[in-house]
Amino acid sequence: CGIIARIGTDDAADTLLTGLENLEYRGYDSAGIAVQNGSGVKVHKTSGEVSDLKSKLNYLPTGNVGIGHTRWSTHGPPTEENAHPHTDSAEDIAVVHNGVIDNYVELRTELAEKGHVFQSDTDTEVIPHLINEYRDELSTEAAVRKAVETLEGSYAIAAIVEDEDRVYAARKGSPLVLGLGADDWFLASDVPAFLDYTDEVIYLEDGDVVVLEPDSYAITDLAGEPVHREIDTVDWDPEDAGKGEFDHYMKKEIHSQPTALSNTIEGRVEDGEVSLEALPAGSFTDIEEVQFVACGTSYHAAVYGAQLLKSAGVRADVIRASEYESVAGPVDETTLTVAVTQSGETADTLSAVREAADRGARTLAVTNVVGSTAAREADDAVYIRAGPEVGVAATKTFSSQAVTLALVGQRIVADVPAADHPDDAEAMLESLADLPEQVESILETTDAERLAKRYIDSQSFFFIGNGLGHPVALEGALKFKEITYEHAEGFASGQLKHGPLALVTEQTPVFAVCTGGDDGKTKTNAIEAQTRGAPIVSVSPDDHPVVDAADAHLSVPDTHPVWTGLLANVQLQLVSYYAADLLDRPIDKPRNLAKSVTVE
Ligand code: G6P
Repeated sequence: CGIIARIGTDDAADTLLTGLENLEYRGYDSAGIAVQNGSGVKVHKTSGEVSDLKSKLNYLPTGNVGIGHTRWSTHGPPTEENAHPHTDSAEDIAVVHNGVIDNYVELRTELAEKGHVFQSDTDTEVIPHLINEYRDELSTEAAVRKAVETLEGSYAIAAIVEDEDRVYAARKGSPLVLGLGADDWFLASDVPAFLDYTDEVIYLEDGDVVVLEPDSYAITDLAGEPVHREIDTVDWDPEDAGKGEFDHYMKKEIHSQPTALSNTIEGRVEDGEVSLEALPAGSFTDIEEVQFVACGTSYHAAVYGAQLLKSAGVRADVIRASEYESVAGPVDETTLTVAVTQSGETADTLSAVREAADRGARTLAVTNVVGSTAAREADDAVYIRAGPEVGVAATKTFSSQAVTLALVGQRIVADVPAADHPDDAEAMLESLADLPEQVESILETTDAERLAKRYIDSQSFFFIGNGLGHPVALEGALKFKEITYEHAEGFASGQLKHGPLALVTEQTPVFAVCTGGDDGKTKTNAIEAQTRGAPIVSVSPDDHPVVDAADAHLSVPDTHPVWTGLLANVQLQLVSYYAADLLDRPIDKPRNLAKSVTVE
């Protein structure tokens, strides 16, 4: 979910709605705003997207203080009742919330016994009722403080109260950033919400309570003691956050990969050596094992990174973050746990890396978002520098993550005594410089649109790959299912014959990702499917043996085999994009998904 609050001297509603549009990547099941204008708190909300809320508003409500929310449902379906802001019974306190209140059932029962009447199924609704309850005896600020102390779970909260020219806010476990404009202050889940108005920000910490007034802001701890937080300047251009000439953010982001990759690499490879600011030579001499934790697309990038390390003789494991507690093996100070997370806010990933730290591991965040929770909590952080990604389906951040992980891997290999420094490491790093241009050439020449048209009516779409082609096949399938809603699966090529082959017919095109490394078997496995009628699309360099067997081909420029998979992935991103476009899907906001899932 995304939250925003704004206070200034003129009306807030317009700014709140723009902010919510910029936060929609965090959820778009329902949306709402509340403003305070001296004659009560006015709430406007709807199920559906921010555009639905805008069309529902016949006029923009007036009031210089306001809050807003765009929701990804956790408790209760995305109905209007469950949309935020939520109020107390008297409707004089309105609250927006991101996170999960674990003790809401108990609180709700207690409050109901005291006569509070609830309108929604949400956990959030207990918050305005609690504030209302405590306000009988306390000032509003003290009541807010007491309410947040009563809550168990995670939250970023913003509240407004009738007749008060203030916003009250607090954070614990969910992101909240303060934006300092010339004439107005903002609070939001993430910087893009207010980037059109200011680039001066303060990243709040867990336990912070904020009170905004039109001309002042105060940050205190839960006990009310003032705390000092640095002001940062964000170097994202608001233009970067727009769609530009493209129909969809996803297409824009696919096309911005050459720039993103150039930024990822810039200044990090010199004379055949990797240099990473946060991780000087010798950083990893005590490390014996690397453990990656991640979700979704980041998990696939992590599989890529882990394979590179393993091939250089470093013990490495990759764990789906949501499974960490049950499957992570023994961990100690010789373990490096790497959280791979574009947003730096994925709750499953944060929880895994916290657990690893508790068990004694050293931690590293590889993320796109400066100041994100993962970056701040981990012992070290390396940024992938891909620029803001808005499309829910991750594209450029996969490429930048995989490259960053390869670079971090090189640093680790250089330090870990047990590792073998690969003979061709220098050639691999040198060829990295050509990657942005090679992506550009794919974007200019791709046959993805034609192939998407050719196979669009198929029943199911398979993606296979071996070695470094495997995470690419998994990512190809994930992208395809996310945005087309068609059935797609990714497999390690050799596993096709151990079950999935039963599903293969002429209605199941098989995209065979071949990187030119040791993946001759993929051709054989593709032919096994072809013999059962499936059309084969090779996604490989033109001179790879699989091309002769294939029914269609997506060309991947020649590069070091370590990078071929990343180029193949760009072709697959384009296939998914064009297929989804043909099917007229809401590409940037696929149903039921959110870009940043801040609940476990
Ligand atoms: C969500 C998104 C995915 C993303 C995953 C991990 O599920 O829909 O696209 O890959 O979260 O996100 P992260 O920000 O941790 O990389």
